[in-house]
Amino acid sequence: MELMTTLRARLLSPLNATESLFIEDAVVVVDEAGIISEVATYDGRPVESDLRGGLLVPGFVDTHIHFPQTRVIGRASGPLLPWLENVVFPEEARFADSSHAEAVADIFCGQLARHGTTLPFVYSSVHEQACDVLFRAFKKRGYRAFAGPVLMDRDCPDSLTRVTSDAIRSLERLAADWHSERLRLAVIPRFALSCSPELLREGARFAQEHSLFVSTHMSENVDECRLTVERFGTDDYLQVYENAGLIHERTILAHCIHCSESELSRMKEAGLKIAHCPDSNAFLGSGGMPVDLYVERGIEVTLGTDIAAGRTFSVPEICARAYDNGRAHGVELSLRTLFYWGTRGGALALGVPEVGHLAVGAEADMCLVSMPDWIESEEEALNALLFDRANTAVEKTWVKGALVYDASQ
Ligand code: GUN
Ligand code: ZN
Repeated sequence: MELMTTLRARLLSPLNATESLFIEDAVVVVDEAGIISEVATYDGRPVESDLRGGLLVPGFVDTHIHFPQTRVIGRASGPLLPWLENVVFPEEARFADSSHAEAVADIFCGQLARHGTTLPFVYSSVHEQACDVLFRAFKKRGYRAFAGPVLMDRDCPDSLTRVTSDAIRSLERLAADWHSERLRLAVIPRFALSCSPELLREGARFAQEHSLFVSTHMSENVDECRLTVERFGTDDYLQVYENAGLIHERTILAHCIHCSESELSRMKEAGLKIAHCPDSNAFLGSGGMPVDLYVERGIEVTLGTDIAAGRTFSVPEICARAYDNGRAHGVELSLRTLFYWGTRGGALALGVPEVGHLAVGAEADMCLVSMPDWIESEEEALNALLFDRANTAVEKTWVKGALVYDASQ
């Protein structure tokens, strides 16, 4: 007999960027392979789990987060460049020690699950072993994830630099050991200022050869932008990455706050994706992200917590910060759009159509969020999920049907 799980709850799932599905009393059936086999209005059948006190939503997708910054969240110390030097680099240097990486990987994965994130795109430290530890932690929990070591060979402490040939050899070994359907190796030059042109180029070549996703930071801070263009002698920031071959459909660029018209049209042309990190932008005083310019042009936007410049693992909270950031630009983003960015939109941007919504055939990556009993409509549910921190919290998280977090245990 096939083992199945039947759940009863309120349900909210994105359909696309402008529509979502709300069922006030839903039944969801998950088969023994962890695939959703039915989503319907409750019809009186017996259920294994009556979860009507909560709202069932897809697991969240965080397209930009730093694993080795887990322990330095909220360590305020000025704008991007001094913060990297004084807070981030000393902490990332500790990941040369695999036992440190193991301890932090446990905390990091626990926090992802506790906040309902089931598909993260993770920057590890420069160290091959730390990335190995991270992949092992994800494997143990049955997670889907994208991850890779950051590539760095200049302008940082010696202990955080790897020469290009060593870095590429590490990528080769990590690809052989881990790259698979659920765990995807990504190529992550940290940002232009920590990479030589050769490292950027060789990273891009490796990504092309293995069809890997690429991610990096871009146009986050005005000093960073000025120094980048000066150092590389290009017309603008994007050209540095274009010249290296890093810009294509499998590229996720984080921040993109200070981009020109020309950069925006080339981004659209390339089909790359943006990881919008509004909490981080606010914390480091990086500037307001003109998100309407991206939406107007049809450039795909996704959401990143950007731990540790971002101060929360919660993607719904990042949706709220993105809403506030939009407001400051005179744009009122729809809550459906924000919810989509943090779920289905993020998954599709990463080329993972199997997750991000609660629909027949999807993998049961889900979370249950506690919800006041007065929430009875789609609008109320979206509003509470994104804004009502006092009355909502993740209670359970499942990855492919398996429980990975339960607040009651
Ligand atoms: N730019 C280069 N490295 C980083 C980082 O670790 N965090 C953020 N927010 N920006 C960066
Ligand atoms: Zn970042």
